Amino acid sequence: MQKDRIRWNEKYKNKETTSVKPSKIIEQFYRLAPKGRTLDIAAGTGKNSLFLAEKGFSVDAVDISDVALKTFSRCHSRVHAICADLDTFEIPRERYSLIVNTRFLNRRLFPYIREGLVTGGILIFESYLEGTGEDYCRPSCRDYLLRDNELLHAFLSMKILFYQETKIHDQKDFCHMASLVAVKI
Ligand SMILES: C[S@@+](CC[C@H](N)C(=O)[O-])C[C@H]1O[C@@H](n2cnc3c(N)ncnc32)[C@H](O)[C@@H]1O
Repeated sequence: MQKDRIRWNEKYKNKETTSVKPSKIIEQFYRLAPKGRTLDIAAGTGKNSLFLAEKGFSVDAVDISDVALKTFSRCHSRVHAICADLDTFEIPRERYSLIVNTRFLNRRLFPYIREGLVTGGILIFESYLEGTGEDYCRPSCRDYLLRDNELLHAFLSMKILFYQETKIHDQKDFCHMASLVAVKI
């Protein structure tokens, strides 16, 4: 949606520094995936895409913000930036050995994520929970927040290797996150 692109481009334009460290959960679990193609859903400024490309994966990095994608897409030959709206984006079937989704939620994608993996492929998914009213660093709109156990239930047709719901400290703030690692069987 054009409105989302403008909003996210504005955010990224004004951002002074971008994190280059990958998400902890990616560092912890990426080795479980067979080498091959990776899909980074809502890649942002590419911290996970670049890390995975360095580790030998070919990465399709999808995001609506061309400003964010421009910051990193030329940094690695194994990263393929795709500027697209995930409200309508079609994940190719049985294409990926690894799909990662961090700090982003689009429930429409749940079945397509599973279908997008090859058998034996790994999903690493971590995003914000509703948490308590005191959570600061999370989206304000409830549509973008997971309910308790929702992520676990969404992927029960896969073999769950790891699942947790926990409070995460982010600089001075905190939020609650659900984290899942699963393999397609
Ligand atoms: C909180 S950031 C997360 C970025 C990265 N995954 C991370 O963990 O740092 C959310 C990302 O979702 C992207 N986004 C928001 N709505 C989108 C949409 N409809 N289609 C594609 N990307 C979208 C934004 O541009 C932004 O980069």
